[in-house]
Amino acid sequence: MSERSRDLPRRSCLSTPGSSERFLAKAPTVAADMTFLDLEDAVAPNEKVAARAKVVEAIVKLDWDDRVLCVRVNAWDTSWTYEDVIEVVSGSGPRLDEIMLPKVQSAAEVVALDLLLTQIERNCGLPVGHVGIEAQIETARGLINVEEICAASPRLETIIFGPADFAASIEMPVLTGGVAIPEYPGDHFHYVFSKILMAGRANGLQVIDGPFLKVRDPDALREFSMRARMLGYDGKWALTPDQALILNEVFSPTQEQFDHAWDIVEAYRVATEDEHKGSVMFGDEMIDEASRKMATKFVTRGERAGLRRSA
Ligand code: GLV
Ligand code: MG
Repeated sequence: MSERSRDLPRRSCLSTPGSSERFLAKAPTVAADMTFLDLEDAVAPNEKVAARAKVVEAIVKLDWDDRVLCVRVNAWDTSWTYEDVIEVVSGSGPRLDEIMLPKVQSAAEVVALDLLLTQIERNCGLPVGHVGIEAQIETARGLINVEEICAASPRLETIIFGPADFAASIEMPVLTGGVAIPEYPGDHFHYVFSKILMAGRANGLQVIDGPFLKVRDPDALREFSMRARMLGYDGKWALTPDQALILNEVFSPTQEQFDHAWDIVEAYRVATEDEHKGSVMFGDEMIDEASRKMATKFVTRGERAGLRRSA
């Protein structure tokens, strides 16, 4: 298990093209909780092989503070995956937290990556289990198999929805992925969001929404990302520094929510420990053990986001 990064926040997950020295150099300065250096769809096919060394150099030479650091390799249905993983993991050393596997269709694909990582870790002197896995669900088959995928390896840390590839996979007639469709009466991805969330939570994973491609429309990003936030997602991809700032806010509790949650935890502790009651009135609301659980989630997320209880 990859202990360092498993519980770190991932409100904003910055995508950085691995073939661009300029974007790689800038990435550590962007206020994102997690950064992934991409060898997949943000890199042109004829740049894929050369990008591996650029990504390794960036991981080794730049200062990534304590954020989650990940590399997205190419999917198993290409010819690049195994060499991506071997070159990146053996070259990067311990600072690399995770490998992201795109277009995961079955649990076997995660198991294959897990086995390969174990051999590389042994040969490189890394602790076995050091490198975590982030799996992207972006095809109809991947969604059907998401429950087995989420249970496929103890290395898994997150499950991610990839709306652009997913729209293509299911032949949805849209030309921009991951944005609202005004013609559709409701949330066209509600089922998908919920199914991935259940599978992730049932296996203790963080659950992440993918990119919002209208990068010049911050208001639309704020509004759209609220859907995933309200369902319980942990974070979302950022394609620009401005998107990361918005997502850090959207995926954090407000100070008011955080304080309110703490008040519930505290009132329930007094009720159970001092007064020996299992439920008690809190303002005009009845609270019990389930209320404590809900409040604790806000407290944990708030603390992960750096909030402290108001005096
Ligand atoms: C992300 O990879 C997506 O396809 O949306
Ligand atoms: Mg994709």
